[in-house]
Amino acid sequence: TSTMRVIGIETSCDETGIAVYDEHQGLLSHQLYSQVKLHADYGGVVPELASRDHVRKIVPLIKQALLDANCTKDDIDGIAFTKGPGLVGALLVGSSVARSLAFAWDIPAVGVHHMEGHLLAPMLDEPAPEFPFVALLVSGGHSMMVRVDGIGLYEILGESVDDAAGEAFDKTAKLLGLDYPGGPLLAKMAEQGEAGHYKFPRPMTDRPGLDFSFSGLKTFAANTIRSSDQSAQTKANIAYAFQEAVVDTLAIKCKRALKQTGLKRLVIAGGVSANKQLRAEFESMMKKVNGTVFYPRLEFCTDNGAMIAYAGLKRLKAGEQEGLATKAQPRWAL
Ligand code: KG4
Ligand code: ZN
Repeated sequence: TSTMRVIGIETSCDETGIAVYDEHQGLLSHQLYSQVKLHADYGGVVPELASRDHVRKIVPLIKQALLDANCTKDDIDGIAFTKGPGLVGALLVGSSVARSLAFAWDIPAVGVHHMEGHLLAPMLDEPAPEFPFVALLVSGGHSMMVRVDGIGLYEILGESVDDAAGEAFDKTAKLLGLDYPGGPLLAKMAEQGEAGHYKFPRPMTDRPGLDFSFSGLKTFAANTIRSSDQSAQTKANIAYAFQEAVVDTLAIKCKRALKQTGLKRLVIAGGVSANKQLRAEFESMMKKVNGTVFYPRLEFCTDNGAMIAYAGLKRLKAGEQEGLATKAQPRWAL
């Protein structure tokens, strides 16, 4: 066929994401099942439960995605799956199903790097950012600054030396008594907070470089909470100050990355890019430096199948494909 259509499969953590993407028509359908409720009682993702739930959900979701896209298996030209990084058992569910379908349907499969999926997610909507750009990837597992010159042309400019930004949100949220994953809940709590009560540090902004460190903010939050009263207003004020510090730190580093590369386009992706305060602060920062910032649409900031389908299509078009022996790569540098 002249136009390529792929199924994308995401199972790296606690969401089963399936999508059908067509080279010319764009995104045709997408399905997302979140396991958040399953893991809530444990205060974090339980790997074994995650794998089992992916097994239960993956095939029905693929069927539904095909149905919604108004097509059958005969219209599909390739399968893209998240090969890593992530939980090994969860990854194996997606990769096994992907490679089995590719074998049965006699079409190629390609393994996609989860962070490449996040990085390309803004391309699913108009206006899509043009290459080259600087990308800030802020998810629950990773925080990195990347120079992007094209598909597969990634230069890591900086990374977190400890916790990821989303991880810091989740851990601080837990200290504030919020459920897992607490990032969005902390953001909600911060809406009731007042500015000026607490001043959190802006880690690693006082020296050159584009690396991040977020574990100190969590410790600072722990100490602040311990020495404060436990009223709802106080907690909201702490949430506010914590969020402000994370966003400020990210903004300072992005400004620096744009200056260093001489680029004017910035992409922010990954779960934390859904944060409203972050979007507001970056809007004004980017105006000041005369640049443009791009985000994925809200539902594609966190894990999803659409970003994997898109990245996989680009990889397949470039002639890449996986052998049958490919399993998963739980640890994998971008
Ligand atoms: O990209 P993602 O879905 O999964 C990983 O690849 O890790 O990111 C999930 C992370 C979680 O840490 C979650 O708390 C955080 O993104 N997150 C947020 C918001 N929405 C999701 N953090 C702050 N504010 C939000 N609105
Ligand atoms: Zn992710």
